[in-house]
Amino acid sequence: MMEIALLSDPDRHEWWQTAVVYQVYVRSFKDTTGNGVGDLQGIIDHMDYLSDTLGVDAIWITPFYPSPMADFGYDVSDYCDVHPLFGDLATFDRLVARAHDAGLKVLIDFVPNHSSDQHSWFIESRSSRANPRRDWYVWRDPKPDGSPPNNWLSVFGGSAWELDERTGQCYLHSFLKEQPDLNWQNPALKAAMLDNMRFWLDRGVDGFRLDAVLFMMKDPHERDNPLNRDGSLHMHKSLGAYESQVHVHDQGHADVHQVFRHMRALLNEYEPARMALAEMHVFDWERLASYYGEDLDGVNMPANFGLLKVPWTTSGVREAVDGLEAALPRGAWPNYVLGSHDDQRLATRLGEHGSRQAAVLLLTLRGSPTLYYGDELGMREADIPAHQQQDPWGMSEPGLSRDGCRTPMRWSPDATAGFTAAEDPWLPVGSDHATRNVESQLSDPESHLNLYRRLLSLRRNSAALRGGAYRPLDPVPPECFAFERVEGSERVLVAINYSTKPVSVDTAGITGRIAVSTERANEGIEITGALQLLPHEAVVVVEE
Ligand code: NOJ
Repeated sequence: MMEIALLSDPDRHEWWQTAVVYQVYVRSFKDTTGNGVGDLQGIIDHMDYLSDTLGVDAIWITPFYPSPMADFGYDVSDYCDVHPLFGDLATFDRLVARAHDAGLKVLIDFVPNHSSDQHSWFIESRSSRANPRRDWYVWRDPKPDGSPPNNWLSVFGGSAWELDERTGQCYLHSFLKEQPDLNWQNPALKAAMLDNMRFWLDRGVDGFRLDAVLFMMKDPHERDNPLNRDGSLHMHKSLGAYESQVHVHDQGHADVHQVFRHMRALLNEYEPARMALAEMHVFDWERLASYYGEDLDGVNMPANFGLLKVPWTTSGVREAVDGLEAALPRGAWPNYVLGSHDDQRLATRLGEHGSRQAAVLLLTLRGSPTLYYGDELGMREADIPAHQQQDPWGMSEPGLSRDGCRTPMRWSPDATAGFTAAEDPWLPVGSDHATRNVESQLSDPESHLNLYRRLLSLRRNSAALRGGAYRPLDPVPPECFAFERVEGSERVLVAINYSTKPVSVDTAGITGRIAVSTERANEGIEITGALQLLPHEAVVVVEE
């Protein structure tokens, strides 16, 4: 049996270690101006939903900065302002104040690897080879035959180098050509970016979701990437043509640790300390663990996409959880992701039963989960007709579009789901909005939303679930994954049946009641001997 990973005490936990983070894709949450695009006021107007109806602890707001929107805000043209589409700095300040009043922390998306090509820094940088900001981006001569400096690819398709005719050099862009990579080896650029972070910290944000952080540091010799001969996937999903190489030189260089240490030092200047949740797709647990820093002085939590990569089976899920637990340095705190604005909707990927099991797992594992807006309604991937497609990735590589998971939040069964007064939201609301919306699901005790609410409420009131130790339960039937969460004398048992048959689980002496189940009728049942699980059922038993 695995050792208890951490003897913990909620009073010793930082706020972000016990927080459930809810990701708000700002364009799609709530439009208050009638232009079909969500905005910051829309988040303010629904703060009660987040803090009370649902009961999460923190929100992560996707980019709302001035941007030409080539990549829907991940192409920032001013790091210290708000795009008029979403509001202004005063609206942002009101949002932070309102969130804090409601007891919610605010994380904002920060995009360190690249700016927009319309950022004044890039405009200056590209203006001449002698410009003082030339080195704030990565400029290289093409090869003598005119081909790109090396074989690096853009995630979104084609070469990662774009020739700029005016100065005859190529600039690097790991994503779109409208998103030139910033040069973090340049001390002045680094200081300017840390100042941009400070701008928001001084305005009261509680932390950052850091975008695409591993791209910040590349091989200093800029060697070609080797070809991906065995076809293994770089991430948890196929990235199309990008998979033709093994990405060992164009990202993930060890110099990134030093950047993380500087960012962490900045976050620690504030009281209480602010935090960073860093987007990275690393599935080697030892390596993922390394980003916490040797003395836990790296990022507070690397985002963990492990549960998106493994098959949704007992062994798949258990391997992802136990593998990470075993690799974590003492004191490090896990994060779990099951959905995001870059991934197929959870309920489409795992189906109705799987997505309900996922809710139980996500909200009971040791670690801070990130919930993606709308997953609490079981929102499905929407089929977006060609003429309504928006995502530039989908345009360059059909099949990789992320539009289907970015459709508007559904507040009511109306034609535009209570999202907007406009006739046409920026993306269609999807076909099942008449049932999968907040209003309808609140009045249905069996709904996805009410399952999430019960889980969140249980978690909020359980020291064991928020901060307790994790211990897998053995032996259990092979169709089942079960674990305990323990805090002092409080014990909670979680069991998930991944099969289509009923199973019986030996509870290792735990007696108590089913506090939450994916089968609501079973809630309240007393467990004295073995725990009987229905097909697909996931339960949380609180010891009595
Ligand atoms: C990761 C973000 O999550 C994604 O939406 C974006 O397109 C890329 N980074 C580039 O910023």
